[in-house]
Amino acid sequence: MKLGINIDHVVTLREARGTTYPEPAVAAILAESAGCSSIVAHLREDRRHIREEDIIFIKEVIKVPLNLEMSINKDIVAFASRIKPYQATLVPERRLELTTEGGLNLLKDYKKIEKVIKVLKDEGVKVSLFIDPNKRQIERAKKIGANLIEINTGRYSNANPSSGCLKVELAKVKEAAKFAKKQGFFVAAGHGLDYENVKRIAKIKEIEELNIGHAIICHSIFMGIVSAVEEMLSLIKT
Ligand code: PXP
Repeated sequence: MKLGINIDHVVTLREARGTTYPEPAVAAILAESAGCSSIVAHLREDRRHIREEDIIFIKEVIKVPLNLEMSINKDIVAFASRIKPYQATLVPERRLELTTEGGLNLLKDYKKIEKVIKVLKDEGVKVSLFIDPNKRQIERAKKIGANLIEINTGRYSNANPSSGCLKVELAKVKEAAKFAKKQGFFVAAGHGLDYENVKRIAKIKEIEELNIGHAIICHSIFMGIVSAVEEMLSLIKT
């Protein structure tokens, strides 16, 4: 199982006080040294954390692939086309949300998304689509040319472990992963995963990569980022 580390929240700390530290590129290098397989960063339209110059510097110093999370905003697509990350993960974005709230709606927005996929693929960027665990979304992702998909585990992560909802949401993720794999997709998953809830998702054999940010950066405050990444890697080992 591969692990992508999202380092956005290293920058959340920097932006909280307008300092020049902590430096996200250092976090990226340390996460890489701990064995993660990619670095993930979300350049949000409101630039609330990661900024363009962070992305450029991170890309320069890491050896593992950079996965740039982004909306289909014109300026951000132009930036991604210019710097050419290894991969772009397209996500929906709403200004007032605390974090990405759900997957893309490919049934509604597929025309705009299809155009962006083409622009990025023409620049040699692999394109992943962040979608809810739903067969129709997966089928549409295939149709509009995505290279891979990331299944949104947000509803699973938010489900109360003592309620039946967790089982239901886990089953949806499993079923979607199986279906996506059958369609020939490389299947990633993420959102809201932490040290408690990650194992059930890591056991789904069709899922090949997990992208995790907030829980690992939080744990890093006490453990240091190398130990925090190593601990997560040991949990998801399959
Ligand atoms: N995957 C996607 C597409 C995301 O938008 C995010 C949040 O930026 C993550 C994974 C990581 O989520 P978390 O920070 O909850 O681990």
